[in-house]
Amino acid sequence: MCGIVGYVGAQSALDVVIAGLKRLEYRGYDSAGVAVLADGSLAAAKKAGKLVNLEKELVAHPLPAGSTGLGHTRWATHGGPTDTNAHPHLDNAGRVAVVHNGIIENFAALRTELAERGHRLESETDTEVVAHLLAEQFSATGDLAEAMRQVCRRLEGAFTLVAAHADEPDVVVGARRNSPLVVGVGEGENFLASDVAAFIAHTRSAIELGQDQVVELRREGVTVTNFDGSVASVRAYHVDWDASAAEKGGYDYFMLKEIAEQPKAVADTLLGRIDASGSLTLDEVRIPASVLREVDKVVIVACGTAYHAGMIAKLAIEHWTRIPCETELASEFRYRDPILDQRTLVVAISQSGETMDTLMALRHAREQGARVLAICNTNGSTIPRESDAVLYTHAGPEVAVASTKAFLTQLVACYLVALYLGQVRGTKWGDEIEAVVRELSDIAAAVDTVLETMEPVRELARSLADKNTVLFLGRHVGYPVALEGALKLKELAYMHAEGFAAGELKHGPIALIEKDLPVVVVVPSPRGRSVLHDKIVSNIQEIRARGARTIVIAEEGDEAVVPYADHLIRIPATPTLLQPLVATVPLQVFACELATARGNEVDQPRNLAKSVTVE
Ligand code: F6R
Repeated sequence: MCGIVGYVGAQSALDVVIAGLKRLEYRGYDSAGVAVLADGSLAAAKKAGKLVNLEKELVAHPLPAGSTGLGHTRWATHGGPTDTNAHPHLDNAGRVAVVHNGIIENFAALRTELAERGHRLESETDTEVVAHLLAEQFSATGDLAEAMRQVCRRLEGAFTLVAAHADEPDVVVGARRNSPLVVGVGEGENFLASDVAAFIAHTRSAIELGQDQVVELRREGVTVTNFDGSVASVRAYHVDWDASAAEKGGYDYFMLKEIAEQPKAVADTLLGRIDASGSLTLDEVRIPASVLREVDKVVIVACGTAYHAGMIAKLAIEHWTRIPCETELASEFRYRDPILDQRTLVVAISQSGETMDTLMALRHAREQGARVLAICNTNGSTIPRESDAVLYTHAGPEVAVASTKAFLTQLVACYLVALYLGQVRGTKWGDEIEAVVRELSDIAAAVDTVLETMEPVRELARSLADKNTVLFLGRHVGYPVALEGALKLKELAYMHAEGFAAGELKHGPIALIEKDLPVVVVVPSPRGRSVLHDKIVSNIQEIRARGARTIVIAEEGDEAVVPYADHLIRIPATPTLLQPLVATVPLQVFACELATARGNEVDQPRNLAKSVTVE
């Protein structure tokens, strides 16, 4: 949430910052702003709305050229998306500029205090207090990094801050508590950003700033200190993807590109993790086997799409390992006083690795003595850093706000964790497990097959563009898939979309069924769990008898559904537990096409932002 960029070097700071903000716009797009240091003074511009509005403003009123600058793209928390509330915020003398991601919880008290000392605050934001506090501390110390450390010690909440002062023209200072901030280490130039995507075109060497740290950025190097002033030791890592991975590559939307990348993302996530004998080699899971053998409960915490992956993981873990497993919404978890101890394994699933709800849930779990294994897509982000172990998904950067390829790779990682737990605990592996491992190795090809047959799904989506409601039904692993299909449709098409466990229909939701209401049904394999299959075929008949327009997703060769499907979407046959990997793809395509047909912005749906760093 909120994208931040800072730059010190020899290039035009404005060009570097604007290009970086373009790559971070997925984090928030309510307003944008920049500040540049030039000729001993500070010049800033900011505009409500998308970055393009700011670009127009900069053409109409150009800023002076300078090689030190910062910028921001906003997802509003305190105060609406107006020009005044846009970042950067300046002190009254216009000497210091600050941009911020997160929430400063004690801003009201600080604001009162500043007003009493004669400061004039103009915006409704929590951020503006920081500009004023920094100005005061800088007057006392003459050192922006020290001023930042002093100010941060007074702030409560979660924040990433980046600031520059006209009296230190070759310095940008950043600070981090809870929200992400990454340093890009270049030659004769250095960068700060919420995400490496902002500077990947310039350098692939990055340092993830730790909790409660301040970084001072100069052309010739970076210095990282803790809030208490002690020097922090940091190590740069190499980013294993390049600028092209964060570009649309000929697709109209990032979401389309990311849907198409799923076979590769799935294959990359499996790569090197299953050996020729079918054994799992998860060397990165640093929790000792002796500890994993003692685990008596698994708790999965995640949000949104990642939560749906967790719901499927529960079924796989319980089925393959017989360890009781719960999946919980991370935002609810710590508030219900969950029962956890050293024998609990908590699995935190997060694409961004920065979701505050998930981070707080894992911190709570660790405080109770539980071990935490993160499943994450973002190298060096906070959630893996604060976990006992991490299994990275290798989806590559996911830019579209609606998660697609990350979801499929989260599923793969969850299956690997379930199978690995079974392996280290010596769970009796029947033919089923061997078959699953074999099928997992072929699953990327199955996802590819689904992608090749999506034209009728797109056509169907276009024909439903004027509908108001779509329902989704599933059972067993198909239920989280139904929830995921509904979530995608809500966030992209802004339609009323709801997922139900098909067996629950008769307990209430069937009252919603009316003539021509589109209902998507995810049908389990007729092999494996045939009872479940037969039951859902009955459910399809029940809704069709009441006039629903049935859109049935069923495996190749499942003839039982044919008489009851107004639209039939075929998916390759897979073992039951793996079916979500192929069944979700048509639902992603469906939502994307419907959103396009309704004229919505696919990559940046209204009110949303990727990487939700507030609770
Ligand atoms: C939906 C979506 C969100 C995220 C959720 C968790 O398409 O993208 O529901 O899945 O905000 O985000 P991460 O995985 O980054 O923790």
